[in-house]
Amino acid sequence: MQIKKVVIPVAGWGTRSLPASKSVPKAMLSVYDRPVIHYIAAEAVQAGIDQAVFITSRGKSAIEDYFDYDPELEALLEKKGKTEMLAKVREASTMFTSVTSVRQREQLGLGHAVFCARRAVNCEPFAVMLGDDIMDGGENGKSGLPQLVEAASRYKKSVIGVMEVPEDHVNRYGIVEGEEIAPGEYRVTKLVEKPAVGTVKSRLAIVGRYVLMPGIFHCLEHTKAGSGGEIQLTDALSELNEREGMIAVKMQGLRFDTGNPDDWMLANLFFSLRESPQREKLLEQMRKLVRSKSLNLSC
Ligand code: UTP
Repeated sequence: MQIKKVVIPVAGWGTRSLPASKSVPKAMLSVYDRPVIHYIAAEAVQAGIDQAVFITSRGKSAIEDYFDYDPELEALLEKKGKTEMLAKVREASTMFTSVTSVRQREQLGLGHAVFCARRAVNCEPFAVMLGDDIMDGGENGKSGLPQLVEAASRYKKSVIGVMEVPEDHVNRYGIVEGEEIAPGEYRVTKLVEKPAVGTVKSRLAIVGRYVLMPGIFHCLEHTKAGSGGEIQLTDALSELNEREGMIAVKMQGLRFDTGNPDDWMLANLFFSLRESPQREKLLEQMRKLVRSKSLNLSC
């Protein structure tokens, strides 16, 4: 099974990232030297995807621009001999062979956002990646979408990415119950969106990566507003599971929910300490900051 398209919903209000996201889409907030959406696109490319469908709303055109050519900027960098920077700028515009965007006119929830992609996706299996979750690494360097695409081609079913969360956090996520059929791989028996703490047996949370069969669109067609008054993807997944079955795969590596300001900051620390050519100096400066009197930290 080949997965060539990814749907990336970025139309949400991003209220947790305000005021930073008031006039800049939260997917365009920078993590170290590139926007959040760059990391997500790079993971899609690593999974063999070459077509992106962004679900957007008013004020998000910066995202499409980021993946487009910018001849004037490129000519300027070329003229100034900034070849390394030129390569970085060009990278985003060559990641996908096609970039489409579909407007979600009203922000009715993630399920509705995915439903907006039905014509762009048509009748083929496709991936969904949330526009604010960055995944990284894993011991073998393979995490997130590549792991799910590989599992989907083995099982020939929809596959959703999960991670274990603390018991008192289950009410923040869609939670999956299932029977483990291989290490870290589960046949899904139940999905529930934001269950009350203590009402589910599982701590496996859905964390922003999916490979879905096109049957999801038939389910979404009649999915009613659920938790939080929003049309929830998890509710449609629950119906899809009853119809066709579904696999959950425990994803390896790190996850940063950059829609949460603290997690966004951690992502910045992680990627700058890993990638900055000045990382030793940066670490020393961070240590100094932590010890500075004005922060008054007890460590
Ligand atoms: P979030 O749950 O993070 O919602 O959505 P949000 O509205 O963006 O952020 P907060 O909670 O108000 O801070 C997860 C992903 O789904 C998209 C968001 O843009 C984000 O990438 N989304 C959500 C849509 O595209 N449309 C929606 O109606 C809801």
